[in-house]
Amino acid sequence: MKKAAGVSRKVRASFATGRCVRGTYVPSDQATEITRSESFTRPSRVLARFSVDRSLENKNSMLHGFSFRLGSADQRSELFTQNAPVYFARTVDQMFAYLQAHFARPDGKPDVEKINSFSAAHPETLNQANYIAAHPPAESFASTTYWGVHAFPATNAKGETRFIKFKIAPVGQQAIEPKVKIRVKPAELLHEDLESRIAAREIRFSVMALLDRPGDPVMDVTVRWPDEDGREAARLGTIVITGVEANHACDDAGFNPATLADGIGCPPDEMFAARRATYALSQKRRC
Ligand code: HEM
Repeated sequence: MKKAAGVSRKVRASFATGRCVRGTYVPSDQATEITRSESFTRPSRVLARFSVDRSLENKNSMLHGFSFRLGSADQRSELFTQNAPVYFARTVDQMFAYLQAHFARPDGKPDVEKINSFSAAHPETLNQANYIAAHPPAESFASTTYWGVHAFPATNAKGETRFIKFKIAPVGQQAIEPKVKIRVKPAELLHEDLESRIAAREIRFSVMALLDRPGDPVMDVTVRWPDEDGREAARLGTIVITGVEANHACDDAGFNPATLADGIGCPPDEMFAARRATYALSQKRRC
């Protein structure tokens, strides 16, 4: 991932630049109907990181990332979300082949022919980039909608389990975008915007669970569920971002997608299985 993105060993393989923030989580009354997870059914502090990713073919667009830890002590959960509801590879082999196709040529330029022939043979690997092209990034982290991408099994207090997808949606005025849009805002401006918004007032996001229907493709992170935007959803709670933290608090925290308190299980797809090992390895190497 680092070679394809052209980033140094010492930074994250993706979403390399970001800002660490803190806040709180307040559950809704609906949360217990969906999950018994104490991370989502009880109030807690939140440690979070907003980030940008310009690797791969996103050089002219941009992925926004939002990772956060909520819950307390042994009932913590850590979620990773991005401003696209799909990922660029369905399997680990496909991801590796995609990254290899994106390695720069010896002259430092992208091998356009190789990239194009890989994309033509594996059109689903364009779904994420196509989504971003059709839905350009918001002007601010605060007005961005983020998705957890995978299908997570959620178990409620009655022991009933169903799949959900996480959607993190901005609340109120902050969700409204200015009429004139700058196509891609540099990372520094996004960070400054975030800091000035937090200094002025708190930033709120609804934590939504999109609810499954029979036959949903829960094993494939390159596709959305049918009518995903229109389907039933439950609001699990609200994240309120209240302050900026020193970046090392997030760098040292070691967020891991497999940190999920009882009540939200690990997604069953192959890509999530790969992530369970990858994040710890990446953190160890960048220290
Ligand atoms: C499927 C959807 C995915 C989403 C939404 C996602 C999201 C993110 C986000 C937001 C970050 C930045 C974390 C932070 O702020 O500290 C990140 C980092 C990272 N991701 Fe992913 N990711 C996904 C899939 C994957 C996959 C499949 C792999 C590899 C198998 C991967 C490998 C990594 C690595 C190595 C890092 C850097 C970790 C570190 O050094 O702290 N990601 N990802």
